[in-house]
Amino acid sequence: MTQRLACGIVRAVSRAHVLLLENIHVSAHEEFRRSEITVHTHGGGMTDTRLIQALQALPGDAPLMVGIRSKTRVTAAVFEAVPRLVALGAFCIGTDQIDLEAARRAGVVVFNAPFSNTRSVAELVLGEIIMLSRQIFPRSMACHRGEWRKSATGSHEVRGKTVGIVGYGHIGSQLSVLAESLGLTVLYYDIISKLPLGNAHPVDSLEALLEASDFVTLHVPDTEFTRGMIGASEIRCMRKGAYLVNASRGQVVDIPALRAALDDGHLAGAAIDVYPKEPKSLSEPFVSELRGVESVILSPHIGGSTEEAQANIGREVGSALSSYLLHGATIGSVNIPNLEAPPIDGGCRIVNLHRNVPGVLSAVNRVVAESEVNVTGQRLGTLADVGLLIVDLAIDSSDPRARAVSEAIAALPTSLRTRIL
Ligand code: NAI
Repeated sequence: MTQRLACGIVRAVSRAHVLLLENIHVSAHEEFRRSEITVHTHGGGMTDTRLIQALQALPGDAPLMVGIRSKTRVTAAVFEAVPRLVALGAFCIGTDQIDLEAARRAGVVVFNAPFSNTRSVAELVLGEIIMLSRQIFPRSMACHRGEWRKSATGSHEVRGKTVGIVGYGHIGSQLSVLAESLGLTVLYYDIISKLPLGNAHPVDSLEALLEASDFVTLHVPDTEFTRGMIGASEIRCMRKGAYLVNASRGQVVDIPALRAALDDGHLAGAAIDVYPKEPKSLSEPFVSELRGVESVILSPHIGGSTEEAQANIGREVGSALSSYLLHGATIGSVNIPNLEAPPIDGGCRIVNLHRNVPGVLSAVNRVVAESEVNVTGQRLGTLADVGLLIVDLAIDSSDPRARAVSEAIAALPTSLRTRIL
């Protein structure tokens, strides 16, 4: 296999393999094919033991990568048994299924795709705001029962109404733009000062937002400060006849307090996608105090579940893995310092992951200085206990001095993993 550099040099690089489990979207295959990485697939998840066997069976001695979704647990045993494994892609949002500490100790870079489904959530919320405002769900249920509830009473356009967005991050800000295009006035509250998009207005407190909004929609993470942040007193702060939407995290809303406000008519309705307790499998029943309340749209945590989001995840994680393999870039990694690394323009690159202890940089620089090779670029990123150093040298990787430098850096007691590109 060859790699064509920007300067026109073509040089040999060994062919890496990626093992993709759990039906990862085909968009990822395209990313790997573009980078000339051999793709192997397996439909379901794997146990640790099977994963180790599958990775060890891959031919050659080139670097390996693996892609999983939520079903495959990756423990320290995998990193210990497969030293060729250089990177792991979680083609999903969460990384709870991976022992990130063990991966870091082994110098395995882990990527995920936390924001690939932003648009999907924003679109669903916008749709729900319209459906709530027109009371479509109770009327649809009535039609299903054979009742003809044709009336304009209680149905409203959303144009000119106010939506209050709690959490103006990726989803909140995207929703802000979409909502404004429909003629809604947008208020938002965030604990961090965020630049308003379009004509959105920041407000100083949660209470101010709750009191001024016809629709309140939550887009905060699950933290000790957001758990229970919408309880009885916050709900009572909302306007009478307002609507609550939660597609963030289940613990953010006090469900019994919401139920009480729906029962006594303080709130006109709600749309809920996430719950304090969610079924762990398709066969487990869904239990909630909101079941049977017609003015509530219930959905099974599918805010971000679209084919477009899956394709985005495939592209995002696939390109992050390819870019780390080919160039050493770690932007988007969840366990290693994030460093940009543009394609190498002539020369070669040494990528060194090391324990972040005093004296590492001077030890590496001593090795490079003694080789008398010119350094054309150097980048360093550190987290508490791990550092990533990228050194560009003015010699080709086939030059014996490049290999000697790389091997001497790899032999330093602080080095976790060293690659030459
Ligand atoms: P993000 O991290 O981009 O934005 C979160 C925002 O909330 C940040 O601006 C942050 O400063 C703000 N925030 C944090 N604590 C706050 C507080 N106490 N009060 C006010 N603002 C606060 O996150 P993103 O991507 O927008 O996701 C938001 C939520 O949506 C997350 O909880 C995520 O898990 C959830 N989500 C749900 C999906 C679904 O399927 N229903 C799919 C994707 C994300």
